[in-house]
Amino acid sequence: MATQRILDFLATRRPEGPCLVVDLDIVENNFHAFRKALPDSAIFYAVKANPAPEVLRLLASLGSNFDCASVAEIEMALEAGATARRISYGNTIKKERDIERAAALGVSLFAVDCVEEVEKVARAAPGARVFCRVLTNGEGAEWPLSRKFGCVPAMAIDVLLAAARLGLVATGISFHVGSQQTDTNAWDAAIGDAKFVFEALAEKGIVLTLVNMGGGFPTRYLKDVPAAEAYGRAIFESLRRHFGNRLPETIIEPGRGMVGDAGVIKAEVVLVSRKSATDENRWVYLDIGKFGGLAETMDEAIRYPIVTARDADLMEPCVLAGPTCDSADVLYEKKPYPLPITLTVGDEVLIEGTGAYTTTYASVAFNGFEPLRAYVI
Ligand SMILES: Cc1ncc(COP(=O)(O)O)c(C=O)c1O
Repeated sequence: MATQRILDFLATRRPEGPCLVVDLDIVENNFHAFRKALPDSAIFYAVKANPAPEVLRLLASLGSNFDCASVAEIEMALEAGATARRISYGNTIKKERDIERAAALGVSLFAVDCVEEVEKVARAAPGARVFCRVLTNGEGAEWPLSRKFGCVPAMAIDVLLAAARLGLVATGISFHVGSQQTDTNAWDAAIGDAKFVFEALAEKGIVLTLVNMGGGFPTRYLKDVPAAEAYGRAIFESLRRHFGNRLPETIIEPGRGMVGDAGVIKAEVVLVSRKSATDENRWVYLDIGKFGGLAETMDEAIRYPIVTARDADLMEPCVLAGPTCDSADVLYEKKPYPLPITLTVGDEVLIEGTGAYTTTYASVAFNGFEPLRAYVI
């Protein structure tokens, strides 16, 4: 939603070109909603969703921890005021020298999903804590995270045993149920997998303590999504069902759910045309597309709400495209997007729910277009 603060900012500053405006008040509300929904879980904000220094500083001041995917993100979190104890290096794919640099910065919690990665951590960060990521099926997620990360639970047992053998602290299990996860019960099977690994390790004398339940909490795009509270309830019930009274320490790593609805992109209509006199659909070209920050429209996975000043007029479906000379730069075509028939060149459009996974996906100078500018207010 474009908040009044965002609308006022755009009206008074009138920034030229496409830009993202992020309202920190919404980020703060989201943080409190997560804290309330899962009061016993530590929040590790997934920096990749939006690493703007103002966002990181706010979250650090509210007591958030940080899930970082690279040394650069670790440095950003430290710069924002987090201590190294509050940082997890959550990427399962790391160069050994990056693990070493993270350890030198004081980070001592690392994600792994195979013995090969455990060996790197054991060499580069001796004595560190590691958690092993298990695969999930990603069902119910609009932006699934596929089979790239994690291993099957049976392998997680070997991975954590290897960690212990190599002098690391085998701490627990992590998983990610897929981003924009609309099913509040999606965590249940993975929590069951975690319990299975906890038991197997206990039989070998290793006591795991941590379940990192990842991100996946959705933001509102065109459809309503359940509130954080509903996710909290479902997750807590699953933890109870699988772990009984011996609840593990838990972590959540919200990214999209923390910042998605805090941002709005202001863009402009560059061209409205048709491909033939009988073409059913208009083509509407904006000054932002897949390479300007809207990469999550890939396969039309994420459908952003788009607001114009002419929304009271008759709506007709359009093919919506970006401004670059690349035919992949089409946002919505398989399922055309309804926009007012009166929409014209020069009109401003607001693309809502764009606080997450936009600025960091913008290309640097593809076709000579600047990366997406951001204002955090
Ligand atoms: C390890 C990890 N944690 C958390 C997140 C954040 O997920 P989401 O934005 O769905 O909350 C991601 C996203 O890719 C991730 O890879």
